[in-house]
Amino acid sequence: MSGFEDIVEITRKHVFGTWRVQKTWKPVNIVSAEGCYFTDSSGKKYLDLSSQLICVNLGHSNMNVINAIYEYMKKLQYLTPAFACDVRAELSRMLLEIMPKNIIKFFYSTSGTEAVEAALKIARMYTRKHKIISRYRSYHGSTAASISITGELRRIPVEGYHTVPGTQFAPECYCYRCPFKLSYPECGITCAEYIDYMLQHEGDVAAVIVEPVVGSNGVIVPPHEYLPRLREITRDHNVLLIVDEVMSGWLRTGEWFAVHHWKIEPDIMVTAKGVTSGYLPLGVTGVSREISEYFEENLFAHGHTYEAHPVTLAAGIATINEYKRLNIRDNVLKVGEYLGKRLKELEAHPSVGEVRGLGMFWAIDLTRDKKTKKFMNTPKDKLAGRPIVVEKVAAKASELGVFIIGWVNNLLVAPPLIATREDIDRGVEVLDEALKLADQEASSKTS
Ligand SMILES: Cc1ncc(COP(=O)(O)O)c(C=O)c1O
Repeated sequence: MSGFEDIVEITRKHVFGTWRVQKTWKPVNIVSAEGCYFTDSSGKKYLDLSSQLICVNLGHSNMNVINAIYEYMKKLQYLTPAFACDVRAELSRMLLEIMPKNIIKFFYSTSGTEAVEAALKIARMYTRKHKIISRYRSYHGSTAASISITGELRRIPVEGYHTVPGTQFAPECYCYRCPFKLSYPECGITCAEYIDYMLQHEGDVAAVIVEPVVGSNGVIVPPHEYLPRLREITRDHNVLLIVDEVMSGWLRTGEWFAVHHWKIEPDIMVTAKGVTSGYLPLGVTGVSREISEYFEENLFAHGHTYEAHPVTLAAGIATINEYKRLNIRDNVLKVGEYLGKRLKELEAHPSVGEVRGLGMFWAIDLTRDKKTKKFMNTPKDKLAGRPIVVEKVAAKASELGVFIIGWVNNLLVAPPLIATREDIDRGVEVLDEALKLADQEASSKTS
C-alpha cells in the first residue's frame, strides 16, 4: 500500500465523507486503538470521548470479543436465515433476560437504520395503519422510511424526494429550551399531553416512536413522568409505542436500556451500536408477544441476506458477556456520576448553556447568550454550510488529543464505558481549554 499521505488522499477522493460537504473533509489516518485511546499515523494518541459514534462501549481491542468473533468465523461463516444455529438461539435467550419482559421475538439486521426500518414495517403490517408520530429532535436512520421519521436536519435535503409520506412530528421534552416556553413541573408535561391531543385528532396512526433519551440531538433526558405518561397515552389510543435505543441502550445510561429507568414496556424496541460494542454491524428489532403472535398466521414480509449473520451474533453474545464480567454497570454508575460532576463545572464558560445527561451519556449545549439561551448554531447554519462552533471546538480538542463529536449545537460526551476518573479528568481539562473558542463567539455576539 502507498504512503500515509496517499491513504488520506485516496480515502478523501474515493470514499464519501458522510453528512458533510465533501471539500470540508480532512480525515485523519488512524492506525491502532486500545481501551479508551486510538493512535494516528504520526504516533499521536487521542482519548476517545465519544466512543467513535457512541458505539465502542467496551473500548477498543477487547480480546474476548475479538477471539469470540475469530472462533465463530472458523466454525461457521454464513448461513441462510432459514436455518437455526447456536448463536441465533443464544443471543435471543440473552436478550429475553435483559430487554423489557414483553419483548419476546427478534429480527436481526446490520445497522440501527435497518432495525428502525424493520420496526416501521412491522408496525405498519401489524396495525394495517400508516402514520407515524415522531419528534423534531430525533435521528432514526438514513433510509427512506427511517429518514422520513427523523425530525432533525438530516431529513431536509431529501424531503419529498426520498421520504415516505405519513409522518407527523411532535415537540420534544427539551426543558432547557421548552418548545412551549413553559417550565417543569408547572408545565404538566405539556409535551406528552400534546401527543395525546395529536392522537385525538389524527387517524390512521400506527405508532409513536421516541428515543427514550434523545442522542445526537442533545442527550435530552425526559422528566420522570414523561415516558410512563406516553405509554399510557399510546395504550389509550391503541397505538404502538416504538422505542429507539440504538444509542441509549447497552448500559450507556447506567441501565441495560434507558426505558428501564422508567420501567415502561414498549411494543417494539430497536437497538444496534453497543450490542457488539461496534465491533461488527448488528441491529436488533424486538417485538411484543402480541405482535409476534400476529405473524404466526400472517406473512412476515421482511428479510435480508445478512440478516441474523452468525458471526455478528457471536460478537453480540461475547459483548454481553463482557458487559457482565467487567461489571460495566457499576463503572457507569460510579464514573458516570463523576463525569457529570466534572462536566457541570464547564457551565462556568459563557458559551455553555447547559450540561445534561445521565450515566456516561452527556451533552454540552452551547449558547451565545445565557439569558436568552440563543443557539450558538442552528440546523439552518449546518444546512447552509456555515461554520459550526461545536465543530471548531471539536477540532481544537482533537489538536489537544481528545476526540469528541459535535453536532449542530451540542458536544456529545460519551466515552467507552470502561473509562476511569483519570480519563475523565483528561477529557474535561481539554474541553475546558477548547471551549474558550466558543466563549469568544459568545462574548463577541453579546458585547
Ligand atoms: C437513535 C438512533 N437511531 C438510529 C440510528 C441509525 O443507526 P445506524 O447509523 O447504525 O444506521 C442512530 C445512529 O446514530 C441513532 O442514534
